Amino acid sequence: MKVGLIGWRGMVGSVLMQRMLEENDFAHFEPIFFSTSNAGGKAPAFAGNAGPLQDANSVEALKQMDVVLTCQGGDYTNDVFPKLREAGWKGYWIDAASSLRMKDDAIIILDPVNMPVIKDGLTKGVKNYVGGNCTVSLMLMALGGLFQNDKVEWITSMTYQAASGAGAQNMRELIAQMGSIHGSVKELLDNPASAILDIDRQVAQHINSDSYPTDNFGVPLGGSLIPWIDKDLGNGQSKEEWKGGAETNKILGKSAMGSPGCVPVDGLCVRVGAMRCHSQALTIKLKQDIPLNEINDMLAKANDWVKVVPNERDASIRDLTPAAVTGRMHVPVGRLRKMAMGGNYLSAFTVGDQLLWGAAEPLRRMLRILIE
Ligand code: HSE
Repeated sequence: MKVGLIGWRGMVGSVLMQRMLEENDFAHFEPIFFSTSNAGGKAPAFAGNAGPLQDANSVEALKQMDVVLTCQGGDYTNDVFPKLREAGWKGYWIDAASSLRMKDDAIIILDPVNMPVIKDGLTKGVKNYVGGNCTVSLMLMALGGLFQNDKVEWITSMTYQAASGAGAQNMRELIAQMGSIHGSVKELLDNPASAILDIDRQVAQHINSDSYPTDNFGVPLGGSLIPWIDKDLGNGQSKEEWKGGAETNKILGKSAMGSPGCVPVDGLCVRVGAMRCHSQALTIKLKQDIPLNEINDMLAKANDWVKVVPNERDASIRDLTPAAVTGRMHVPVGRLRKMAMGGNYLSAFTVGDQLLWGAAEPLRRMLRILIE
């Protein structure tokens, strides 16, 4: 099987390549590396003898592929995908971008949660398989057990999303912001006799000044937060918040958000100063008052990656944080308890690596599903 790889040098693409090497994926197909800027250049050595880089804008070259897997981004998909299909290409398109996600002829892939939906799509001849929004995929990895057992009436998700979701430059900017805060008060900090309110005043002035680096985020993130992610849909909701409901229902193969039979999912999406792990505080309205031990059990059994963290202080602050989860495949879920509103109301908190299960991992697993 010939697999064309596009966007493998970017941030998500690099994480994908690393995971594919770890899982020995390259032994199972012939990788053809494409480039939007360096066609004819040398393909990466890590995948063996893969020949020169092909032109990622050449429909003729892409047409030779059985599978095209792209992490190049939405603009590339919008440009190249229609031309390739118009040219009669019948191969499988695996994509990390959101452009095609909600189309009727595309399946959102998250196989530990929706393998039956994927298998059904393959049987019906669906050729387009797209990774979901990172917060949605991470929430479903954590709560898969409640959905498998049909226990969820609705969910609100309040997110704490990392800089990586906004891009590589934004991660750099967050670090630059943190460093510049420190730099602005270093002398006062080094002096144990200095007053904390003097330090605070200086920090506040600095993060609101022109010398604070905000070219990418537009506003301070380090020392602050940003209560809006993605476009303004004009109805009070951000596009990121809209995706929560729309994509969750599509992934689960349920009716569209807002129609009978859907599971309503809504909330507020917030950017915080974490590097690459998204966290979410969830309120879940259950269909019945189920005992907590049964809930823990359902959650823990749902897939190989979810880890239930006991709802205790020490375990929560140690295991349920971006610092503990960064670069790791497991998806912890904790802070599980019945809320004051009644036995049907469950609280939960979950954390996941936005670049792994939130982006790269579902793509490489889809490739393996196609090969097997
Ligand atoms: N839209 C997400 C974010 C990342 O901004 O965090 C991509 O799914």
